[in-house]
Amino acid sequence: MRERLSPILAPYRGQRGALIPVLQKVQEELGYLPEEAVSEIAYFLGVSESEVYGVASFYAQFRFIRQGEHTIKVCQGTACHVRGGPRILEAVERELGIQSGETTEDYKFSLARVACFGSCALAPVLVVDKTVYGRMTTAKARKILAEY
Ligand code: FES
Repeated sequence: MRERLSPILAPYRGQRGALIPVLQKVQEELGYLPEEAVSEIAYFLGVSESEVYGVASFYAQFRFIRQGEHTIKVCQGTACHVRGGPRILEAVERELGIQSGETTEDYKFSLARVACFGSCALAPVLVVDKTVYGRMTTAKARKILAEY
């Protein structure tokens, strides 16, 4: 871990105020913030691990658990809900064998249910990473997953 993070951390050595940008860069590199990374960050910046955890857990953008290679989000906002969002979510859960909030064992997919994406005209909506798929059906959802 030290070798991997050294190039990212080196410019910030001892700069306590750089904690948030450092957390962002490390998460960009690793996809999440594992325990060893938190220790390294604390060591480099000269702060305690609990301070790093305290700051990182305050912001929703930081994750302490490894995420899947692809993030699937199924909208459960009002427009999507009335047009079948719950059925889409169930189909995706069945297909992946996980519940929302979980990651598949092979770390290929993480699944989340979310509120409105602001694409209500396309409801029901499913999003894979940054790609929005509208007017979703259970069959289309299965087909999209297969493509990944
Ligand atoms: S409710 Fe799903 S995009 Fe708005």
